[in-house]
Order: sequence, then C-alpha cells, then structure tokens
Amino acid sequence: MAEQSRKILFSREKIATEIKRLGEEITRDYGDEEIILVGVLKGSFLFIADLIREIKSPSVVDFVRLASYGSGTQTSGIIEFRKGLEMSIRDRHVIVVEDIVDSGYTLECLYNKFLLQEPRSLKICTLIDKRARREVEIEADYIGISMDDGFIIGYGLDHDEKYRNLPDIYLVEES
Ligand code: IMP
Ligand code: MG
Repeated sequence: MAEQSRKILFSREKIATEIKRLGEEITRDYGDEEIILVGVLKGSFLFIADLIREIKSPSVVDFVRLASYGSGTQTSGIIEFRKGLEMSIRDRHVIVVEDIVDSGYTLECLYNKFLLQEPRSLKICTLIDKRARREVEIEADYIGISMDDGFIIGYGLDHDEKYRNLPDIYLVEES
C-alpha cells in the first residue's frame, strides 16, 4: 500500500474528543455500578485502553478474539472464535467494545452468544459505525464516529495485520 494512496480521515484529536464523550455518556448511564468492558481483539486494543481511562464508573476488562476477515477487505460472513471470556458475565453489566461495525455479522454472533450467559445488561460500544454497510440488524448503543463506505486503517485497525500502530485513522483509496 503506497504512502500516497491514503489520507487522514479521522485525526487523533477527533478520536480523543469522541472517546471523551463516550466515557462521559457511559459514566452518566452506569454511575457507581460496575461494568465489564469486553474488548474484541485485536482491533479494539487501543480504543479500549483510551476509553477505560475516560470512564469514572468502576470497570473491569476482559477480551475475546474473533476473526471474520481473511486478508481481503470484504467480510466472509464466517466468524471464527479464537479466544473466549475469562470472567463470568452472568448478572453483570457488560459493554462490548468494538473497533468498527461493518456488516454486523461479528457483533451479532458475539451478542447472541453473550445473551445466553444472562448478563444483567448488554450494550455495544463501537469507535466506528459503518452503518451503510450493515447486512444484519444490529445497532451499537454507544457510537464514536459514523462513516459511509470505505476501508480504513490505523488506531488499531489493520489491513493484513499492518498499520494498527498509526495514531490517526486513514482512508485507504483502492487503486
Ligand atoms: P463485520 O463482521 O463485517 O461487522 O466486521 C467487523 C470486523 O471487520 C471489525 O471488527 C474489523 O476487524 C473488520 N473491519 C471492518 N471494516 C474494516 C475497515 O474498514 N478496516 C479495518 N478492519 C475492518
Ligand atoms: Mg481486522
């Protein structure tokens, strides 16, 4: 991917501003109730690290690892579970923390799996919502930034496992 084929879509400042707002919304909604934030690896690792520091409610962290993409930019619709929860979510307040919701298959799969474990509440927080691309009916409760179509990289988001370390989010112009 050539350097000139990408441009900044969301700056680090914009990302920080929206995460601060999300932290305030979550703090307002949960107050002193404890939350389990479940990060969906790998894409959400930077987001969850920044988000949890903006949440004042008591919070604990767990991670799951899912993979839906091969090496292309299109979803396969097939979700592979590579790592499950370490904590019990039964009767607890859970927020699933995603980097991006695209077709929605990944979240739908995870959401239904978690519901079976009877959490006290189950919400979804995503940094990026690509709503126009949704193929299943699933909505995030907390949304950082909404965007139209387009493949993005940086701030945890990868293309073939690369570019997760970029501090800003870039739109990849496919040539
Ligand atoms: P979904 O199942 O189609 O909603 O896909 C969700 C997952 O696909 C995300 O957690 C990302 O890992 C990946 N993904 C979707 N769109 C993008 C993108 O624009 N850049 C990088 N990864 C993406
Ligand atoms: Mg990915």
